[in-house]
Amino acid sequence: MARKMLPLKVRFATLEDLEWCVREDSEIDEAIIKRKIEEREIIVAEANGKLVGHLRLEYLWSQVPYIGLIRVLPEYRKKGIGRALLHFLEEFLRSKGHSVLFSSSQANEPEPQAWHRHMGFEECGFIAGINEGGVSEVFFRKVLS
Ligand SMILES: CC(C)(COP(=O)(O)OP(=O)(O)OC[C@H]1O[C@@H](n2cnc3c(N)ncnc32)[C@H](O)[C@@H]1OP(=O)(O)O)[C@@H](O)C(=O)NCCC(=O)NCCS
Repeated sequence: MARKMLPLKVRFATLEDLEWCVREDSEIDEAIIKRKIEEREIIVAEANGKLVGHLRLEYLWSQVPYIGLIRVLPEYRKKGIGRALLHFLEEFLRSKGHSVLFSSSQANEPEPQAWHRHMGFEECGFIAGINEGGVSEVFFRKVLS
């Protein structure tokens, strides 16, 4: 079946998006999300003027880019929005001279792991039992060629 394309805008979040970001990323303190918006560490996807997905960027050792979270609202998945968020991030990171991007996924969630592999990430490590309930985390690396 052909994928339905949406008129999509991907951009860095602004403080006008704070309330939505706090609601959708509810485990993170509002003050931290606010700071991350100001630091251009949150990217949002907007379809028909409505926010439908976001990506939270972190930097390991304050240097190495790592996707802390990428999430598309369930009803908007498999329409190219995750790819568009990742593409925006990759272009931004390349423009800043980065050559590698890391990400991760819970070990008990095969779907996001498959998505990462499909998007060109390779598995590169594992932290045992780091999540609630002793669930492990699988790490991925993508070379930004
Ligand atoms: C992972 C996630 C962000 C992907 O976003 P999405 O908008 O559904 O993905 P896209 O539509 O952009 O998919 C891009 C490509 O990946 C493919 N794809 C989508 N989901 C996939 C899956 N589960 N397994 C394998 N490939 C997948 C699509 O078919 C598409 O392929 P193509 O462009 O080559 O035709 C989304 O499923 C999500 O929000 N999941 C819940 C949160 C989560 O687990 N995040 C990851 C850990 S932080």
